[in-house]
Amino acid sequence: MQQPKAIIFDLDGVLTDTSEYHYQAWKHLADDEGIAFTHEENDTYLRGVDRRNSLLYLLKGRKASEEQIQEMMERKNRYYNDLIKNMTPKEVVEGGRELLDEIRHAGIKTAIASSSKNCWTVLRAIDIAQYFDGVADGYSVTRGKPAADIFVFAAGLVSTPTSQCLGVEDADVGIEAIKAAGMQALAIGPAERFHKADKVLPSLANKRLQEMVD
Ligand code: BG6
Ligand code: MG
Repeated sequence: MQQPKAIIFDLDGVLTDTSEYHYQAWKHLADDEGIAFTHEENDTYLRGVDRRNSLLYLLKGRKASEEQIQEMMERKNRYYNDLIKNMTPKEVVEGGRELLDEIRHAGIKTAIASSSKNCWTVLRAIDIAQYFDGVADGYSVTRGKPAADIFVFAAGLVSTPTSQCLGVEDADVGIEAIKAAGMQALAIGPAERFHKADKVLPSLANKRLQEMVD
């Protein structure tokens, strides 16, 4: 890989394990509605996907009015907020602060590209907002991942051409978005989850910058 001028991080499942809370909140909604839903489905189909498209997947072809869709999205979000309200700075991936410090000291810009409308709540709860030069969240663009938009938007926030950015993602749709944006892609998770990544690491825990860009 070439040394990037900016690193654009996804949040949920990369810098903290909120993807598990998203799963639990969707599972709660699925149980309410009597819909079967597994952890495997969550990992394969919902990781990185915005709230509305996640719900449409979960409904599996069941008919729902716009009003019902809105109510279910709000209910899932309540369940999710109940789970994240007690998050603390301890829930940053182990060694994450040191890694972000190292990246910034190397003169590399940093940004967040998260599909979540709760992105700022999580950044504040785990106290890492100060490590980023820009934050793109679920309010920043209309077309979600796998569209390139949120990564292009985040690159703009740090005034860096996408060809000089490294994107970091735990979702296959996120890796697709990073590649569509013309960035190098570092995937976080099991190799079999990803199709287009330039490099895969099982986790960001206790990693150094060099291991991300080798
Ligand atoms: C992504 C998560 O970061 O954000 C998805 O990986 C989630 O699971 C999406 O559905 C949208 O989050 P929110 O907080 O806006 O419902
Ligand atoms: Mg993610």
